[in-house]
This record gives sequence, structure tokens and C-alpha cells, in this order.
Amino acid sequence: MSGCPMTNGVGHHEDSGSTPLSESVTGGGMLYGKYLQLDKIVGAQRLLSEEANRLVHDEHLFIVTHQAYELWFKQIIYELDSIRNLFNNEDLAETGTLEVLKRLNRIVLILKLLVDQVMILETMTPLDFMDFRSFLSPASGFQSLQFRLLENKLGIKPGVRVKYNKSYSSVFGDDPEGMASLIRSEAEPTLAELVEKWLSRTPGLEKEGFDFWGKYQSAVHEMLQELKDKADAAKDGTAKTFALNSYAKRKAIFDSIFDPAVHDALIKRGERRFSHKALQGAIMITFYRDEPRFSQPHQLLMLLMDIDSLITKWRYNHVIMVQRMIGSQNMGTGGSSGYQYLRATLGDQYKVFLDLFNLSTFLIPRNCIPTLTRDMKSKLGVQQTSKDADDNKTDKEKI
Ligand code: HEM
Repeated sequence: MSGCPMTNGVGHHEDSGSTPLSESVTGGGMLYGKYLQLDKIVGAQRLLSEEANRLVHDEHLFIVTHQAYELWFKQIIYELDSIRNLFNNEDLAETGTLEVLKRLNRIVLILKLLVDQVMILETMTPLDFMDFRSFLSPASGFQSLQFRLLENKLGIKPGVRVKYNKSYSSVFGDDPEGMASLIRSEAEPTLAELVEKWLSRTPGLEKEGFDFWGKYQSAVHEMLQELKDKADAAKDGTAKTFALNSYAKRKAIFDSIFDPAVHDALIKRGERRFSHKALQGAIMITFYRDEPRFSQPHQLLMLLMDIDSLITKWRYNHVIMVQRMIGSQNMGTGGSSGYQYLRATLGDQYKVFLDLFNLSTFLIPRNCIPTLTRDMKSKLGVQQTSKDADDNKTDKEKI
């Protein structure tokens, strides 16, 4: 392994003894096994079937797969915490947004891996699984603390979770440290909340400035009026009814964002998440994504949707695997209804960035999008430097 940065040119031999890390470091270098503490990781596969003298070959795969998932969950949480800090502590000037993009993209790639990883475990047959399932009960993925932390830090609120015979946090009752970190993760600002604040500061929303929202409303009204005129002018009775109905539907959809009271009612019903202002910011970024200062924010919104959709795909792959392994009627080892419970978690309430998915509802044809004023065009025309960000700190703009 000469040339491998891990061996630092020292050569390679297995050494995963128990010298403390600090000692090895001061000793002027460290070998691969020690640096990675492989003694702990590679030594952590305890096959219960083997201990019961009834070795089941596939239990090894089952354990390694779960451990690999947990390691990747750890990395995702690490990236997520750093992203939340960037949003929290900085004005997210160009350098900050770039770093956020880089780390969100990393999370997306890890999640893609996790979605596909389910396939490897599916090489185990239900009969093989049955051979050792009783040994691991009552252990269940439902008790994965890191999975819950990940959900909470993204922005899933306890109130939206699918009801199950126990509270989702009660399973951590014997782990005070885990419980404390779970409670902390519910109290800290979530990624969704930080993104919401950031969106509501989108430049161009100010009423006294470009007033995007006012211009957008006028454009929509014009578009709707055209639809109505066409419907009124239709001669054929059926075509007229159809056109009037589709006009009424379009109008109701747009009313739901123009009327803050309707918007708030939808938030209460859990059908919308972002504040009214944040939704305006997201729509504006989507329309003007080709302007240099909106291109990174637009990429950011895309990555947030990727995260939501990949987690949903993971949930789906997992539930299909569960059905294949234990069917639709058997309870899970964690005490839930198993397949039925997991299927309910595929719903929209588990999508943290649901509003971004629904943005398409509010798009209008390119030729109807309000034209940028010269002032706004030049504002969005250049990427902001860190210096600009410092200069602008008072005017609350973000990108
Ligand atoms: C043979 C393979 C698997 C089976 C049969 C299985 C079964 C189940 C069942 C029945 C549940 C519902 C809770 C319960 O009552 O136990 C569950 C939840 C869960 N499992 Fe698995 N699982 C498998 C593999 C995995 C893997 C590889 C992971 C990766 C970490 C995982 C992570 C989870 C998580 C995080 C939950 C909680 C989901 C939620 O509450 O939204 N499972 N699993």
C-alpha cells in the first residue's frame, strides 16, 4: 500500500491494538487500522444465531447492512448540523451558499446509495430471515436514534408522525443521553425552518422595491381573465362548461396563495408548511433562476427536494422489502403493525419541503412572468461577494 495516504509511507500491516489515539498521534504517525479504529468496527458483528449454535449465514449480512446504514446516517447528520450552522450564523453570502450546496449535494449522493443498498439485503430470502428473526426481537429499526435525529433535524414535527402503539420517543426511555439529544433536536431550529427564514428575505419581495408579489398577482389576474374570456366566448355548451370549470379551478388554486387567510388555514391542516413570505421567495427564485444571483439558490431548492424524494424512495424500498420478508399481516419486532405502519409513512406529511414540490401549481407561462426592472436586473446580475454581503448587512438581503 505504499503511496496510500492512510499509511503515510510507513508500509502496511494490521495493527488494531488498543493504544489510545492521542499516544499514536504523538508517536509520529498512525497505521490504517488504528486510525480507523477498525478493531471496534470490524469486531462489532455479533451473530446471535451463532451464539445459539444455530448459525444462520445471512445474519452477518443483516448486521453489516444495518451498521453501514447507521454510519451513513451519522455522516448525514454531521453534514446537516454544519449546514444548519451556516444558515444560522452567516448571511449566506456566495461562499456560504456554495458550501451549503456542496454539503447538500453530498447528502443527496449518500441518500442515493442508501436507497440502492436495500437491494443487497433483498438477496436474503424470507425463509433465511425467519431462521434468525426470533433471536433479534425486540430489536427494530424503529429504535434507530440517528434516523429520528435525522428526521427531526430536517424538520419532521412529532405531531405529524403516524400514530403507533407507543410514542416514537418512548423507545429511547432507557437511553437518557439519546433521549436528551432527541429532545434537543426537536427544540433546535430545523433545516426547514432555517430555509423558510432565508427564503422570506429574498431580494425583490420588498413592497417599496421591486414588489414581486404585487406584479405576480397582476400577471396571474391577467392570465385568469384571458381564460375566463375564452370560456365565455365558447359556443359549444359542453366545451363552455369544461372551460368555465377549469377556469374556476385555476382561480381557486391561485386564491389559495393570494389570500393569507386561506394560506394559514392550509398550514393548520398541514397541507402547506412555509410562511406566506417564504413561499413568495421560492416562487420568485424559481421564475428568475437564470439570473446569476438566483442560480445557486435555485440549485439549493432542487437539492432540498432531492433529499425529500430520496428519503421517500428509501421508505418505499424498505416497506417493499418488509412486505417481502414478513408479509402484510405480521407485526414488526418493534411492536408496530409492520407493513401497514410503514406504508402510512409514505404520505406527504413526511415531506419536509412539500411546498417546493407544489410550487409547480403556481407557475405561469414564461411570457406572463413579470419583467425585471433595470434596477432589479442589475441587482440579480452579479453573484454577491463576501464583501458585498458585509456592505449590505443592514438591508437584510441574503444571497
Ligand atoms: C429484513 C429486513 C428488514 C425488515 C423485515 C424490517 C422491518 C421493519 C419493520 C416491521 C419496521 C416497523 C417497526 C417495527 O414494528 O419493527 C421497521 C422500521 C424501521 N426500519 Fe426496518 N426492516 C428491515 C431492514 C432495515 C434496514 C436495513 C434498515 C436500515 C437502517 C431499517 C431501518 C428501519 C427504520 C429507520 C425504521 C423506522 C421507520 C419509521 O418509523 O418511519 N430497516 N423495519
